[in-house]
Amino acid sequence: MTIATTDAAERLGLSLRSSLAVHLAEHGHLPASRGRHGSVAGSLVDEVERSGLRGRGGGWFPTAVKLRAVVESSAARGRLSTTRRPVVIGNGMEGEPASGKDAMLLAASPHLVLDGISAAAYAIGATEAYLAVHRGSHLVPGLLAALAERAEATVDEIAIRLVTPPARYVASEESALAHWVGEGVATPVHDRKPFQSGSGGRPTLVQNVETLAHLALIARNGGPWFAGAGSPAAPGTTMVSVGGAVAAPGVVEVPTGTSVASILDRCGGPTADVAGYLTGGYGGAWVPPAGFAATPWDPDSVREMGGVIGASVLWAVGPDTCPLHEMARVAAWMAGETAGQCGPCAFGLPSVRDDVHLLAVRRAGAGDADRLRSRLGLISNRGGCKHPDGTARFLATGLAAFPDEVAAHLAGRCSFGSTRPGSPSSLPVPEARLASADVNGRDFA
Ligand SMILES: Cc1cc2nc3c(=O)[nH]c(=O)nc-3n(C[C@H](O)[C@H](O)[C@H](O)COP(=O)(O)O)c2cc1C
Ligand code: SF4
Repeated sequence: MTIATTDAAERLGLSLRSSLAVHLAEHGHLPASRGRHGSVAGSLVDEVERSGLRGRGGGWFPTAVKLRAVVESSAARGRLSTTRRPVVIGNGMEGEPASGKDAMLLAASPHLVLDGISAAAYAIGATEAYLAVHRGSHLVPGLLAALAERAEATVDEIAIRLVTPPARYVASEESALAHWVGEGVATPVHDRKPFQSGSGGRPTLVQNVETLAHLALIARNGGPWFAGAGSPAAPGTTMVSVGGAVAAPGVVEVPTGTSVASILDRCGGPTADVAGYLTGGYGGAWVPPAGFAATPWDPDSVREMGGVIGASVLWAVGPDTCPLHEMARVAAWMAGETAGQCGPCAFGLPSVRDDVHLLAVRRAGAGDADRLRSRLGLISNRGGCKHPDGTARFLATGLAAFPDEVAAHLAGRCSFGSTRPGSPSSLPVPEARLASADVNGRDFA
């Protein structure tokens, strides 16, 4: 993905390729007084609360609540407990195939993310800090160079280690990430949350790298400064990965609440009539085109239109791409990306994958479509993590957003002439990955 046109509202320095010297000239050092080790949350946590920052990894959960939960969990353990001191993990895995924002940020402003890890660790009294990018990521050499610069200049109070868990969709779910860092196993953990007992049984803060970059700016400029941009309920700027039927697909940074039409304009505008939008990514939701262009890009407004802002993916489907074909391709990939530990993943996802395939290739009857809908209703809220829920929502909202196309396929027709091979608005689906061979075994870059 490329950086779309830049804008005065940008804060994260996406057009830079920051060395430590450039970064410090631009932002200055982190203020040392904002956090304090110990059982009481540092003043940075108060500042984050004032900012209204919500996590950019998909759930848009209030960051201050998470920081406090880790501090309280750590304080609740006996002072002598060896599993008392927290761990911080920056989540730069970017498991969503249609997202490019985290890689863009880590390439352009690695030190802002590393500052965020450092500041969060300092504020909550963490004694271990990690940055995770997926195994094989092209970012590794640049990040190792950035970490070496920081070690040389003794910027960080505790060393930040780069880790490269397997490039599997569920490996970047927060409990799986903590599991990997602590035990070398990249599967989600059902019975406890990372903030209670994560890496090595220690309270663990997992934050998306964009969240951490915003946190680093809040540490310098304060919460009210951050809240001065964007929608009041989810303030600040947000990166958006824009793809599909637009002239210049890429990543933009905009204040939350910017209209979908303005975001598309920043990427050269739609290249054709848009048949529908995928919002949030493959764990997100489809939205029909009517009225969506005027929608503000923030969690509540997107939800009111039936979408999910999630990992901030905005994908326009053009007339060269059959959405049902796209749904079948993505469902096949998502069904192969489970950790296979729970019923909805072991049995539910393969069944809906097969149902939607029949529909896409126009071999399904009305009974098959009904069976697909009822199976989708049975999948949610039954797994150890939200992977099956996201897949079910992706498919259920797709069926609802394209009713005419579902009817056409049931009648043996496709209005889009199916997806043309190599079509620019066809969703990216990574090559099939090895079943579970690579979710065990740890390595540190
Ligand atoms: C299947 C699955 C995959 C996920 N992949 C990612 C990911 O690649 N990057 C990410 O930041 N969050 C991902 N998440 C969300 C994380 O579990 C977690 O909520 C997030 O890293 C927390 O950061 P935030 O509070 O800063 O958003 C995923 C969640 C699920 C259920
Ligand atoms: S729901 Fe699926 S991906 Fe999540 S823990 Fe269970 S088997 Fe693994």
